[in-house]
Amino acid sequence: MYTPYKHEPFTDFSIEENKKAYEAGLEKVKSYLNQEYDLIVNGERIKTDDKIVSTNPAKTDEVVGTVSKATQEIAEQAMQAASDAFEDWRKWSAEARAGILFRAAAKIRRRKHEFSALLSYEVGKPWKEADADTAEAIDFLEYYARQAIEVDKGKHVESREGEMNCYVYTPCGVAVVIPPWNLALAIMAGTTVAPLVTGNTVVMKPASNSPVTAAKFVEVLEESGLPKGVLNFVPGSGKEVGDYLVDHPKTALISFTGSRDVGVRIMERAAKLQPGQNHLKRVIAEMGGKDTVVVDKSADIETAVNAIVVSAFGFSGQKCSSGSRAVVHEDIYDEVLDRVAKLTKELTVGNATESNIYMGPVVDQAAFDKIMSYMEIGKEEGRLVVGGTGDDSTGYFIQPTIFADLAPTSRMQQEEIFGPVVCFTKVKDFDEAIEVANNTEYGLTGAVISEDRQNIEKAARDFHVGNLYFNRNCTGAIVGYQPFGGFKMSGTDSKAGGPDYLALHMQAKTISEML
Ligand code: SER
Repeated sequence: MYTPYKHEPFTDFSIEENKKAYEAGLEKVKSYLNQEYDLIVNGERIKTDDKIVSTNPAKTDEVVGTVSKATQEIAEQAMQAASDAFEDWRKWSAEARAGILFRAAAKIRRRKHEFSALLSYEVGKPWKEADADTAEAIDFLEYYARQAIEVDKGKHVESREGEMNCYVYTPCGVAVVIPPWNLALAIMAGTTVAPLVTGNTVVMKPASNSPVTAAKFVEVLEESGLPKGVLNFVPGSGKEVGDYLVDHPKTALISFTGSRDVGVRIMERAAKLQPGQNHLKRVIAEMGGKDTVVVDKSADIETAVNAIVVSAFGFSGQKCSSGSRAVVHEDIYDEVLDRVAKLTKELTVGNATESNIYMGPVVDQAAFDKIMSYMEIGKEEGRLVVGGTGDDSTGYFIQPTIFADLAPTSRMQQEEIFGPVVCFTKVKDFDEAIEVANNTEYGLTGAVISEDRQNIEKAARDFHVGNLYFNRNCTGAIVGYQPFGGFKMSGTDSKAGGPDYLALHMQAKTISEML
């Protein structure tokens, strides 16, 4: 019925035709800049006076779109709509639900560069990174559609003579989805369609920095055949709308991706039983990271340098998977640092809508201010090697920055900065490297650059992260190939894009019948 899953290829922009296709995508997005987007509850468009104004972080006077903001009253209507729609939606066959995802994937694939261009405008994502974000969204649709059909078959359990036992999966109810702005299309799409395809209904509150991307995605799902009320779109403030949805007694499941502090807050609130609630809420949380690239003395230097630069500065370090720490063996520390510094100085910083920009702006003023405050901390705790400056006069630009000689327990090496800053720490041997790599409260990704088999085995066993990579960068997990999710304070290790992910949105039911 359908072809085997294969991840969406990335676009090579050195090919003129591809460059032109992206430019056409940018033109398309330009033609609808500054439009208004409504809330969607039970398939109805709702306008409110209070708006989220989404601007280009590279050019803050350029409005990407204006999106109506939900009130608690509208959030309540959305919950009711989702709860009512669940009664019918849960009975749809897995094939029919998956069909909507397959159709949506095909539609996004046809408009691929338009969606990527929208990411360049709305969150300042450079072409290559935006292309990967859109590819990942397509992958989530394709992968979860196939997985849903598999999960629907249930699992084998044994039966004794005279009885027939079945083990099947059934949806949970209403899912509240709170996605991030950094993989504004991919993670938003993945966390929305996973509950949907498994028969749950959804109230989605998009990130306030990327509501237009989310609105466009919701349109695609509607065009692909999603019935009214199954997905309700309620942009709004975390405090007013987010908390209300999390606390709601009808919320069965919360899927959140974002900061550690908000994730912890959601966990706490979800644990509290509300009047009228007759179930325990489930939380899927993907939170922060403070990810390390370990460089062993046996490392290939070129591989190490590339891994550090790509991990640290891809999308300006605004990924929970970003490699913001480099832990390097003392024998090669100076050489690796020098070469990383040289390569970093060559990186281009500018408006992400332009071609050949390696790093766009950071996402907003709050991010800019936070990252710049760490520049001062870095100068006190370590040695500034490259960068350290920013300019927010027209957009939120920060130069790629390297600090050296940091103590492993320094704030710079412990706190998530979420910006283009990498901090170096020198270690005397591989044991110490792994010890330092493990000494944060996070446990999301890590990379080890080594040619030493024993050290590779040691890291595989002892480096305590959800996604561990050898001899490459620590970002860019591919759906279906590298299921993604972290340990410790990085979240619930829910492994998005993996074989166990959909089951987290479902309840297993054992059915036993006497024959
Ligand atoms: N999944 C992304 C990565 O691996 C981060 O969210 O980079």
